Amino acid sequence: MANRIELIQTDITRLAVDAIVNAANNTLLGGSGVDGAIHRAAGQELLTECRTLGGCATGDAKITKGYNLPAKHVIHTVGPVWHGGRHGEPELLKSCYCNSFRLAHEHSLKSIAFPAISCGVYGYPMADACKVALQAAIEALAEYPELERVIFTPFGDEALRIYTDTLADILKTHRSVKQ
Ligand code: AR6
Repeated sequence: MANRIELIQTDITRLAVDAIVNAANNTLLGGSGVDGAIHRAAGQELLTECRTLGGCATGDAKITKGYNLPAKHVIHTVGPVWHGGRHGEPELLKSCYCNSFRLAHEHSLKSIAFPAISCGVYGYPMADACKVALQAAIEALAEYPELERVIFTPFGDEALRIYTDTLADILKTHRSVKQ
């Protein structure tokens, strides 16, 4: 399990994987942050395909091709805006990860990379979001044996520290539960 999760400090648009996940908005028509970087690197054709999708509800996910990206596909998901944590944010964020993994499974994808969904413009505290993300990954790896690589791309040193510490904690708990 642990060797199928990787933390790579990189610009997600550089990864040659089956799918990278985009932290999009409800329109799916681009924005700032990682969304802007993905649309810039993928090129105009990505926007053209996104225009056919009719937007995306918060917590849901939709898949497109990767166009000029090294990744074969982009899975666009819409994270919740942080309003203090008592407005369904953890459930909606979990749903972003679960729906992204489900789409990857439905398309027989073996490698998927996630940015820290909702942790930029949408203001979700990184430490809380990271627990949701890594827990969802552990569950997906158990459910989908074909999934070989789940990559997270913590952006910046503080994000990397949070992901490294949280992953160690979750794996420790997971191992002691299994024993
Ligand atoms: N590679 C990996 N991670 C990145 C990259 C990159 N190239 N660029 C930024 N990040 P955000 P959100 C990190 O704001 O909070 C857009 O306008 C960043 O440091 O991109 O879900 C959309 O259209 C942060 O940790 O997404 C929506 O309107 C994380 O990615 C809104 O922002 C997510 O930050 C979505 O906000």
